[in-house]
Amino acid sequence: MEPRRELPREPKATSRGFRASRHLFSAMVPYRAGAVSRGKLMKFLVMNGPNINMLGVREPDIYGKQDYKALCQLVRDTAAELGDEVELFQSNHEGALVDRIQEAFGKTDAIVINPAAYTHTSVALLDALKAVGIPYVEVHISDVTKREDFRQVSFVRQAALKTIMGQGIEGYRQAMLFLHDHLAK
Ligand code: DQA
Repeated sequence: MEPRRELPREPKATSRGFRASRHLFSAMVPYRAGAVSRGKLMKFLVMNGPNINMLGVREPDIYGKQDYKALCQLVRDTAAELGDEVELFQSNHEGALVDRIQEAFGKTDAIVINPAAYTHTSVALLDALKAVGIPYVEVHISDVTKREDFRQVSFVRQAALKTIMGQGIEGYRQAMLFLHDHLAK
């Protein structure tokens, strides 16, 4: 694992380590080459946006009956199964989510993020994810493609490696398995 690096005051791309985004409209994004090498432990950050802490209570017909605690347990069990490390973070505040993404710079190999309602509104989250250049997967518990028009936009999708939706909390596990395989290659 790389030694910890300090967060720069103004995150900027360096001349080394760029990869072209697969998305047509996004610019080149910084990429920390060699963050995970084969056989080494990987550090995940699993992030959730507003109201995900209300799982189990919140519209169970859409989001299921399992609560946030069950989601955290599933994520921890998946990390243990993979032999990886994981940190969980949930906030109802956009700026707190941006701060947490910035803190991950140089310390985290992969991010799984369900930005919840901020999916559909937040350029700030997309910018933060692109600034740190950490590979990430976007997860949604529900299938947003089958819901209201305002849920059809996702800002973070632009630079995500993959989007998993409509799988309930199992989607987080799928995202971690995908990222583990992807980064071990
Ligand atoms: C969600 C879908 C969003 O549209 C919604 O605002 C959420 C949860 C999901 O996981 O299905 O809060 O991200």
